[in-house]
Amino acid sequence: MKRIAIYPGSFDPITNGHLDILERGLKLFDKIIVAILHNPGKESLFTVEERIHMLKVSLKKIKNVEIDTFAGLLVDYAAKRKSHAILRGMRAVSDFEYEFQLALMNRRLDREIQTVFLMTGLRWIFTSSSIIKEAARFGGNINGMVPPIVNQKLKEKFGFNSNSKHNGSVAP
Ligand code: PNS
Repeated sequence: MKRIAIYPGSFDPITNGHLDILERGLKLFDKIIVAILHNPGKESLFTVEERIHMLKVSLKKIKNVEIDTFAGLLVDYAAKRKSHAILRGMRAVSDFEYEFQLALMNRRLDREIQTVFLMTGLRWIFTSSSIIKEAARFGGNINGMVPPIVNQKLKEKFGFNSNSKHNGSVAP
C-alpha cells in the first residue's frame, strides 16, 4: 500500500521552509499531495492560480508530489484522497498552540487520520510566508528564502525590480 500524505496550507506563497518540510516528508511517504486551501473568505496576496503556478515551477524537479486545491474540511479532503496522514511543519514553540488545536480538532473530526509534524531545518526557523511578504512589500532582500519564481512574483506584485537597494545577497 502506498503511503500518501496531504501537506495542506495557504502557500501564499510557498517558501523554502515549505520545500524543506516537503523534502523531509518525502523520506517518510511515497507520495505527498500539496493541497492549497481554496478559501474565498480569506484574504490572500496571490490568487489560487498564481500559487499553483509558483508551486508547479518550484516543485518541477521533485518527484512523487502532486499539487491540488481543496475547500471545506481538510479531513474530508484527506479521506477523499484516501490519505491517513496530514503533514505539518513545526518551527518554533510559537507554532505549537495553533498546530496542537488544529491536529486535535482534525483527530476529533476523523479518528482515522493522523497528523505528522516535522521539524523544519534550523535555517528556516524564523521564516513564514507572512514575514517574507512583509519584507518584500517594502523592497527587503528575500533572496534565498523563497524559490526564484516566488522572489520574481513578489517583486512584480510590489513593483520592485532587481535594482532595489536591499536586494543584495546578504545571508540572514
Ligand atoms: O498555511 P496555513 O494557513 O497555516 O494552513 C492552514 C490550513 C489550510 C491547514 C487550515 O486552515 C485548514 O485545514 N483549513 C481547512 C478547514 C479545516 O479543516 N480546518 C480545521 C478543522 S476546523
